[in-house]
Parts: sequence; C-alpha cells; structure tokens
Amino acid sequence: MEIRQIAADERTDTMFPLQTYAFMPSPWTEADRETYAKRMVFYRTVTSLIAEEGGQTLAGVAAFPMRQNVRGVVHDMAGVASVSTHPSARRRGLVRQLMTRLMQQMREQGCAVSALYPFRPSFYGKLGYVGVPRVRTATFAPEGLSHLLRAELPGEVERLHLSEGFDDYNALTLRLLEDRHGFSVYDETRTSEFRESPSLWVAIARVDGEVVGAVTYWIDQYGGDLVAGDLLTTGPMGRALLLQFFARHVDQVARIVLKIDTNEVPELWGTDFAVLTEGRVDLPRRGGPMVRLLAIEALNGLRAGAEQDVTVEVVDDELIGGRYRITGAAGRLAVEETREEPQATLTCAGISALAYGVLDPIEVMTRGFGRMEGPAVERLAALFPRDMPYLFADF
Ligand SMILES: CC(C)(COP(=O)(O)OP(=O)(O)OC[C@H]1O[C@@H](n2cnc3c(N)ncnc32)[C@H](O)[C@@H]1OP(=O)(O)O)[C@@H](O)C(=O)NCCC(=O)NCCS
Repeated sequence: MEIRQIAADERTDTMFPLQTYAFMPSPWTEADRETYAKRMVFYRTVTSLIAEEGGQTLAGVAAFPMRQNVRGVVHDMAGVASVSTHPSARRRGLVRQLMTRLMQQMREQGCAVSALYPFRPSFYGKLGYVGVPRVRTATFAPEGLSHLLRAELPGEVERLHLSEGFDDYNALTLRLLEDRHGFSVYDETRTSEFRESPSLWVAIARVDGEVVGAVTYWIDQYGGDLVAGDLLTTGPMGRALLLQFFARHVDQVARIVLKIDTNEVPELWGTDFAVLTEGRVDLPRRGGPMVRLLAIEALNGLRAGAEQDVTVEVVDDELIGGRYRITGAAGRLAVEETREEPQATLTCAGISALAYGVLDPIEVMTRGFGRMEGPAVERLAALFPRDMPYLFADF
C-alpha cells in the first residue's frame, strides 16, 4: 500500500467513487460524476491524500486550509473532510495511517489546529480530537416577536439574493473570525463556491451603513417554515434588527427555524415568547464537531484566565507530546518546553479541551483525558476558564 498526495483534478477518478459510495445515494450517475468534476476548481488548495494498492484507490482523506479563532488568536486550521475507505479495505488501519500523515503534513504547512465533523467521535478520539458544541436551533412562531414590530431601531435590514449580498456576508464572517472564539472560515478558493451555489436569501442588518448582522434563509412554502442559517451578529443591535425582520413574516410563515450559537438564550428574546431550543446530535449524520491542537505553540498568545503557571506532560501524541510550562501573564498564555516534573498529565484531547474552553480540569479527568492533583486542577481551571467556542463553518 502506498500513500500519495493528489491534485484536485485527480480526485474525480480516485476519491469520488469512495466518497460518493460512503456519503451519497448510490449507484451514482455520470451526471453526478460530472458535477463533482466541475466542483474541483474550488478544491485546488485542499490537501488530498489517498492510499493505493495495485493501481486501485482504497482510501482517502483531505484537509481544507481554514482559519479559526481560538481564545482571541486566529490560527491556520486544517478542516478535515472526505474521509472514506472502500468497504472491502475497511478495518485495515488505512484511515489511521492517512490521518496520521495528513495531520503531520498540515502542521508542516503551518496549521496549528484542526477540526472535523465525526461520523463517530470515538474514532477521532483515538487521533487526539475532542468534542466542541454543535450549533443549536431555535424554532418559534414569528408572533412571539411581535414586540419588536413596535420597536424603533436605529438601523435597517436589506433582503438580497445571497449571490448579490455575498461580499457583505463574507466580510461579516471575516470580522467575526477576529472577534469570536471558535469561529472558523474557509480560504478564498473554497469560499467562492458558496457565492454561486445555493439559492438562498440573505438578510443584512446595518447601522449607519455598517453591517452588524446577517443571516441566510429560504422559505419552504406559504404558511410553512422560514429556514435560516446561522444568526451572525456583531452584538445585540444586529440581533434585534434581524429578529425584527423575521417578526415581519407573521401570517406568511408558521415557524422560523434558526441556527444559533450555544451562548444564545432565545427564551430571553421576548416576554410570552414560546420557543424550542435544540442541540441535536445523532450519529453518523449530525455529530458535534471535534477539534485538536496540531502544535503545542497554538497555546501562545491565547487569552489567559489568570496570572498563573503550571507544568504539564502531554502523553500519547506524536505531534504535541512533551513536557511544558504554561504561563499566564499580562492576560496571555505562553508555553515553553521544560524538564521539570509535571503537575498534570494530559492527553492531546485533554489539553485541546482546556485550550478550547469546553472542559474543566475535573471533567478532563472524569472523561479519562488526564490525571492531576488538587493544585494543578485549580491552576489549569484558572488559566483555561470555560468559554464555549462557536465553530460556524460546516464542512
Ligand atoms: C469510517 C471509515 C473511514 C474507517 O476507515 P478504516 O480505514 O476502516 O479505518 P481504520 O482501519 O484505519 O481504523 C482506525 C481505528 O478506528 C477503528 N474503527 C474503524 N471503523 C470504526 C467504526 N465504524 N467505529 C468505531 N471504530 C472504528 C479501528 O478499529 C481502528 O482502531 P485502532 O487504531 O485502535 O486499531 C470507513 O469505515 C468508511 O469509509 N466509512 C464510511 C464513511 C464514513 O463514515 N467516513 C467518516 C466520515 S467522518
């Protein structure tokens, strides 16, 4: 078996059959193949690796070059996708080998972190990944927001086809990348596919001409559902403007279904406001995303919760294993190698969970991602306070 990196236009004859068999209705048609081949222009910057034997492709993995905000620092990120093995070659360790090589290569290409959507989290858990929150949905009738119809808000909302509003929408995502923990975006090559593809509306909220919020949506039928994408806002005014716009769909749609960040609390959007907030995870189709550090230096510069230091040993990981001193000073973390005895032992999933703010040190231990004594629990909890990331990009 040989592992080989392939160019985007080779994917159609190598990865397409594996991916389509794994993820799509099949058998596929020639038209499906042609559609895929045309899309490969948007995959020029993707790193694609395949495992071959006797000229046959047995498995493939890929990583999109992306960027992600982790506690205030924007890192290059490897967005892993297209993971599939031919059914007769499964359980031979092919994807494990491909993923090991992919993670190493993406780190060499400068990616400090990685994220993916798993079919089964325990599979990627073995590769050092740890879960972060899945996007929530809020489902409500527009009547519930009727108080906003009477509110005089200092801004306006414009409705456009996504293709027309794309530049403003995209600029807002780039602004949120700078501000919002966990937020991630594709590179320009991949992003340009979204400008053309889906037939969606976008509502853009502005105050004094500045974009303060945007949301994509479509309407399934008169009296039916208005199905919206992620509610992207720079703050409460952007949210109020977009919700006011949705409130104006009273009598036109029965329900609004909107994707929201885990930090949103929709029941506080109105008085007498009936709303169902859901975070549904089911496997294999709707797994919560997972993340990991690819380089320990990813910790440098992250917002620190306290002026503290702690020594840790990261174990069982080729990319980030070692002993480190982690220090919080002037509000930022710094990491350096050390020979000192560690106060805590962490797996890659354990240190990644702390860095992303999803697990407390006690939870790191109860989940089996590390061991430590009382003082280290307090220090790590102070350095890495809980801060739920909002991943945004679906891939
Ligand atoms: C999931 C899939 C990619 C696994 O590929 P594979 O080449 O068989 O995986 P490997 O043989 O390298 O397995 C790596 C490890 O995961 C385990 N594993 C494999 N498939 C698993 C599964 N379905 N559930 C849990 N563990 C699994 C293996 O036992 C092995 O464990 P080990 O390293 O401790 O021995 C393959 O089954 C597939 O193509 N499935 C359909 C598409 C899909 O779901 N892709 C993933 C999208 S996120």
